[in-house]
Amino acid sequence: MDELSRARQEIDRIDAQLADLYAARMRAVDRIAAYKRANCLPVGDPAREREVIAQGCARVEDPALRPGFAALLSHLIRLSRQYQQAQKAPADALQVCLPEASCPVTVRPGALQHAGDFLDLRRTVCIVTDDGVPPEYARTLAAQCAEAEIVTLPQGEAHKTLQTLTELLSRLQRRGLRRGDCVAAVGGGVVGDLAGFAASCWLRGIDFYNCPTTLLAMADASVGGKTAVDFGGVKNSVGAFWQPRAVLIDPALLGTLPPRQLANGMAEIVKMALTCDRDLFERLEREEAPNLPELITRALRIKIALVERDERDAGARRILNFGHTLGHGVEAAAGGALLHGECVALGMLPMCAQPVRARLARVLTRLGLPTSLRGDADQILAAAARDKKAETDGIETVFVDEVGACRLEKLGLPALRARLETLLRQQGEETR
Ligand SMILES: NC(=O)c1ccc[n+]([C@@H]2O[C@H](COP(=O)([O-])OP(=O)(O)OC[C@H]3O[C@@H](n4cnc5c(N)ncnc54)[C@H](O)[C@@H]3O)[C@@H](O)[C@H]2O)c1
Repeated sequence: MDELSRARQEIDRIDAQLADLYAARMRAVDRIAAYKRANCLPVGDPAREREVIAQGCARVEDPALRPGFAALLSHLIRLSRQYQQAQKAPADALQVCLPEASCPVTVRPGALQHAGDFLDLRRTVCIVTDDGVPPEYARTLAAQCAEAEIVTLPQGEAHKTLQTLTELLSRLQRRGLRRGDCVAAVGGGVVGDLAGFAASCWLRGIDFYNCPTTLLAMADASVGGKTAVDFGGVKNSVGAFWQPRAVLIDPALLGTLPPRQLANGMAEIVKMALTCDRDLFERLEREEAPNLPELITRALRIKIALVERDERDAGARRILNFGHTLGHGVEAAAGGALLHGECVALGMLPMCAQPVRARLARVLTRLGLPTSLRGDADQILAAAARDKKAETDGIETVFVDEVGACRLEKLGLPALRARLETLLRQQGEETR
């Protein structure tokens, strides 16, 4: 037997031992989950997790191998957290498990009426909403709080600014919000991003709850901890990562959402399906009347898995930027005429291989989303180049060559222009 075969046999033997050890470890995790369930303890324990990694690494003799082992243990710990959560959670509850934070996400029709069962409202809660959201949603939450202050912002992306943030912070100050109090968003992605940002910087950070009311915010924006305002014409360029303490999703609130806004949210669900979940995309191709709570849950499972792998957007989470490079350019150039999801829909098309693109265009059309655009390429590219992901040698862009899988590649501006022009050339008429 040659050296290579011997080494491979050795690897196979070690992997077999690893499989037994993994099963034994998960049995121990199961016992921990049962204990925590019985004693109402949280799943995440950051101090203990750090200790496990430090102890483990100290046992590795070769210092050069320690970082790799630390990475292996953190991955194992993440799997253990997910496993514990699955044991602990009711069927409609999801959980974002991060080393420093753990955020339960509940998707349940009617949940807003029982918000006190999911959120700690025994304090002063600043409820942030906007003047397009039916006011009874904020009032329903307020009625369950010990003390509540409802702040109604002007609706729309044009108000996602530092000025609105300053007004919101002034309200928190006037109300005298303290460290133990909290901010709760009741609105779409704009309200969520603004309220989350305010919570992240008020008194250097207070608790934040997100109760999304649009499909886009339910299926995407409310989870993951990105908060921001637009600044100097660049979307989301000033903000912070600030994880919500909990996310409460009540799909019944979608009953008042206009159809164009529903389609807008579907664009982000299509994005998740196309990049990560072939089965979900095929469902979107087949089904005329989608089951929204189920779609929201499927989309969130994808988002949560990516956020857990990469909270700070340094790797896997960038997949969620699919369609956003050109999309943000289109959004800025359209000057408010197109919604965020509509721009993402347009931005996805040129980033797909041809057969995928044809299937995507059919799904988008059926959902009432635009597939063609009449615009000025220079203006769109100039706006895309100001994107916060842009670097001197190009913009990292997500491509889908086959449904359910994707890759990242840096694209220079000439290549981006060529992609954009195929989108512009394809059009007959502007659809919206
Ligand atoms: N933080 C993130 O991870 C993330 C992800 C994706 C998008 N976003 C951000 O989300 C924003 C877009 O969010 P959006 O699409 O929810 O837009 P939006 O917040 O502007 O809401 C859309 C409109 O719907 C109205 N509305 C909200 N809920 C309603 C309801 N139940 N019934 C009737 N009307 C209702 C609002 O008043 C508003 O006019 C963008 O700013 C985008 O950057 C953030």
